[in-house]
Amino acid sequence: MGDHVRSYVVAHLPGDGIGPEVTAVARDLVDRAGKRHGFSIDWRDCPLGAGYYLRTGQVLPDEVLQDLRKTDAIMLGAVGSPSVPPGVLERGLLLRLRFDLDLYVNLRPARQRPGVDTAGADDLDFVVVRENTEGLYAGAGGIVHRGTAFETATEESLNTRAGVERCVRYAAALAAKRTGKLTLVHKTNVLTNAGSLWMRVAQQVAAEQHVQLDYAHVDAACLYMVSDPGRFDVIVTDNLFGDIITDLAAALTGGLGLSASGNLNPDKTGPSMFEPVHGSAPDIVGTGKANPAGAVLSAALMLDHLGEPAAAVDLDSAVDAVLGAGGQPTTQAWAEALSAQLAHTEVTR
Ligand code: IPM
Ligand code: MN
Repeated sequence: MGDHVRSYVVAHLPGDGIGPEVTAVARDLVDRAGKRHGFSIDWRDCPLGAGYYLRTGQVLPDEVLQDLRKTDAIMLGAVGSPSVPPGVLERGLLLRLRFDLDLYVNLRPARQRPGVDTAGADDLDFVVVRENTEGLYAGAGGIVHRGTAFETATEESLNTRAGVERCVRYAAALAAKRTGKLTLVHKTNVLTNAGSLWMRVAQQVAAEQHVQLDYAHVDAACLYMVSDPGRFDVIVTDNLFGDIITDLAAALTGGLGLSASGNLNPDKTGPSMFEPVHGSAPDIVGTGKANPAGAVLSAALMLDHLGEPAAAVDLDSAVDAVLGAGGQPTTQAWAEALSAQLAHTEVTR
């Protein structure tokens, strides 16, 4: 080892609410896995979020964004606080990072895990590839005649051919590595403009990459996710549909506490950002009850993206093992059980 230890610069952005509690556990486990697998993390603390905004009046200073661009990855906790008006941190921090760093894929795996009740949705193992920079999230629209009876509010869904195509390409390549089946989820019977573009692009890319293309309307997809989830392997969908169906997927696989996500720049021209799907959960801050599994599984996605797949598998398996033994009631108990499990993996290898 010595000089040959691989090293990665990772920004630790704990954010708000339970973000600091759960990412502390994930960070410690990443360091432990690094010792075993011969890499180290050069953590850079990045104290953005509600507290920073209330102190400085700024959400994401340009210099901080420039520093973040120079990292290998970003580990994010959660964003959002009752002390800040809705949207300020969500748009100004989380969405700005997704957009400005061009993190155009939001990868959200959903899998039935040991000991977790799936409400009858057995045989569930799919990945949602959510477009992450366009659609209704792009911010196009506005309000005119505010405060009058004629007040009009619009949100426009932006779908560019280039933006749709790069997302579908990523999903098709992932499908080719799994079972070769890709499902487009949209609402082509009503959203005929965007739906047509998504469908034509998906057909073209699927044919080129030799994957089987299936299609489901988003409402039907919700039903199938509960009644017949085995039909899905890789799902590709737009930003808002992806946001909604991944909460349903989370509910079917043990809840938001167990769900992971990666905001990816698949071209690796800059850092990708990893965050649990759950929010800042202000109602349980400081109670010690936050489940760190979603953050740990997000850290596993990060390790995989950094090129440390064996360490990623160790973290993922540790979560499975703790769940298989009945889970844990507190953040601290989770942390101890996970690190014991990781040490056990080291001994038995
Ligand atoms: C998510 C969250 C965000 C989103 C919010 C906090 C802006 O719900 O990551 O799924 O809508 O994308
Ligand atoms: Mn969401």
